[in-house]
Amino acid sequence: MTYDSHRPTSNIAKGKVILLGEHAVVYGHPALAGAIDRGVCTKIAERTQPEGSTSRLRVSEWKIDVGADSQHPVSLAFAAMLKAADLQYADVELRSDLPAAAGLGSSAALCVAIARSVAPDASHQTIATIANAGEACFHENPSGIDVALSMSGQIAEYRKESGLSPLDCPPLPLVVALSGIPRSTAKMVNLVRERIAKDTCASAAIEDIADLSAEGRDALLKSDWELLGSLMNQCQDKLGHLGVSIPTLERMIRIARKSGASGAKLTGAGGGGSIIALAPGREQKVMRALQEAGFESFITQVGQSELRD
Ligand code: PMV
Repeated sequence: MTYDSHRPTSNIAKGKVILLGEHAVVYGHPALAGAIDRGVCTKIAERTQPEGSTSRLRVSEWKIDVGADSQHPVSLAFAAMLKAADLQYADVELRSDLPAAAGLGSSAALCVAIARSVAPDASHQTIATIANAGEACFHENPSGIDVALSMSGQIAEYRKESGLSPLDCPPLPLVVALSGIPRSTAKMVNLVRERIAKDTCASAAIEDIADLSAEGRDALLKSDWELLGSLMNQCQDKLGHLGVSIPTLERMIRIARKSGASGAKLTGAGGGGSIIALAPGREQKVMRALQEAGFESFITQVGQSELRD
């Protein structure tokens, strides 16, 4: 996808992958994550209300065409963001090359792009506040990681309490593969919460995931890909213990590892969505193996400030 060349890349609300630490981040632990080189940007943003018009939001790639007055989840989020921006009217058309509902932060990218469209002169903090008002409609109690990364475009450590700490490391090439199975972040977060209440092994898994994230930070800073891959594999194991992995994701991970990935895991909430695979120098081979097995896949540069051609 080619974005408007006159528009600075900072105006693209990016998607993201979580490298390590999903679910643990909900409980205040650090997660390692990075923005990917796909996202959502503004095509049209009109805030002067023509006589008789009502607010409208369109994203043709995601088959979204809603007002701000229905019970459609996107409509509810749009209405919440207009309210947070203190606006009566907006006509917004967005463009996207990010797969929707695949655990790649599409709802946050949507919310950030809407916030930037309806409040183009607002501060960073105000954009985050407006976007989070929308995110809260999609996910009951989001940690905030998706919105923060969508805005920053970097690789970073994220904590609920302190937000993003960007990491000074080169862009990381990863293979992303989509299971095609839709999932709900809120449902998976609730499932983990119930497990933790009943089962001490689940609480231990959360602690282990937190430790893996901390180790992953050092591996990233040292560009130690073998270690990072091994930590990703261990994290996948722990996510399996939490009950958020599913047979299709496990199969995809097996394919990725067998075709050369040193690390592969689900990314995001699980229960469907996507996997990521770290395969330095072998990305094409891993991507082809996943595609031949029928899974839509692409190679992305995580934390790269420029977008793909
Ligand atoms: O929405 P997803 O699939 O990218 O998952 C977000 C990561 C979780 O840790 C599971 C939830 C959260 O709010 O951080």
